[in-house]
Amino acid sequence: MKLSKKIINTLAENAITAKSKSYSPYSKFKVGASVITSDGEIFNGCNIENESYSLTICAERSALFNSFINGKKNIFAIAITSDDKNFLTPCGACLQVISELAPNAKLILVNNIGKIKLTTLKKLFPNPPDLKFLAS
Ligand code: THU
Repeated sequence: MKLSKKIINTLAENAITAKSKSYSPYSKFKVGASVITSDGEIFNGCNIENESYSLTICAERSALFNSFINGKKNIFAIAITSDDKNFLTPCGACLQVISELAPNAKLILVNNIGKIKLTTLKKLFPNPPDLKFLAS
């Protein structure tokens, strides 16, 4: 599978639509994310906050978990968007989860006016902890 303009635009649009579903009464910061699997299925997510604050889930993890819940574990790309003019990169917790569940995913950052920046997990999280032995 190639990261075509069509995939980039479709995923960006899905992330923008997902952003509108954000439940963020505390931060008032809406985030949307969308993942595409290697067989072309798309799953969306948004941030869902909680009055405890710490139980908030970010859009990236909610999109990834949505895909896994539907039995789709082969993530090809992830798009992330917010209403900020700066490109939103995944937080540390999401980078950790992406590094386990979607280590090869291409990252598509989309700003508030739909501008796109491509990046990689390797760039954002070059040295994840090596804990694979825990599962052996
Ligand atoms: N948030 C995300 O959904 N993704 C990120 O990459 C950064 C932060 C959410 C969590 C919280 O609901 C709000 O944005 C403010 O931090």
